[in-house]
Amino acid sequence: MTVATVYKQGWSLDEVHWHLFDPHKVEPAMLAAVKAAALVEYNAPDYVSYLKRVFADGGPQTLDAIEQWGREESQHGKALGRWAEMADPGFRMDEAFARFRKGYTPPHFEGDSAQSVRGSRRGEMIARCVVESGTSSYYSAIRDATDEPVLKEIAGRIAADEYRHYKLFYDTLHAQPEPDLSFWSKLKIAIGRVRESDDDELAYAYYCANVPPDQEADKPYSRTAYSRASAATSMSIYNRKHIQKLVQMVVKAVGADPHGWIASLMGAILWRRMQSKTA
Ligand SMILES: [Fe+2]
Ligand SMILES: [Fe+2]
Repeated sequence: MTVATVYKQGWSLDEVHWHLFDPHKVEPAMLAAVKAAALVEYNAPDYVSYLKRVFADGGPQTLDAIEQWGREESQHGKALGRWAEMADPGFRMDEAFARFRKGYTPPHFEGDSAQSVRGSRRGEMIARCVVESGTSSYYSAIRDATDEPVLKEIAGRIAADEYRHYKLFYDTLHAQPEPDLSFWSKLKIAIGRVRESDDDELAYAYYCANVPPDQEADKPYSRTAYSRASAATSMSIYNRKHIQKLVQMVVKAVGADPHGWIASLMGAILWRRMQSKTA
């Protein structure tokens, strides 16, 4: 059994061993997944603006941490985009990202409201923990599934960042001077955020990343079709242990035992649901 390298925070693109890139080890499904992920990651500045509004009087330490978090997410997008351009010289990250930006903006990123769409800062942090649980397990799955050395390294670096992001938001959740939410409120927020993965963000990123502009007329965007394509690609990468880890992290964020029956049940339900989405 090999042990994955643990990468430290604060890495730069120059540290990645790009010269080890092996085009023969690029797989089409993995390439499609990486292109889509690059667009979602690179969209981080909008999240930074929104979170800074929600935590406007949260103190300089929290605001600095949000800025740093956003820089790391954008770098994930750059690293994945650069790898995708090496793997597919026809892919243009800038062009794909411009199309994605033009067609996708979540409503809470517009306007200047300081109120979290999750109802409170604690709610906001639970939703963030869900996202970081998802990305941490997804990049771990990519790292484990690919034989392409540069992608393995990038995914390993990103997975470690995502796990640190989860810890940042988990700690911020518990540092809020607000009353704790009930278990059921927390669970509702977490499940609500998981269900949002059905919205346009992932499906439309997959479309912009994988349908070139000159094919748009022949292949118009359909949320159902591209949501399914995106899910099928993800499921070719994930295996059950990554989903269980994801669920354990979410269950911990809502205050339940990550090794208890709720985690086992939710892991089984989510795995089945993800499989059904590809059918
Ligand atoms: Fe990320
Ligand atoms: Fe993250």
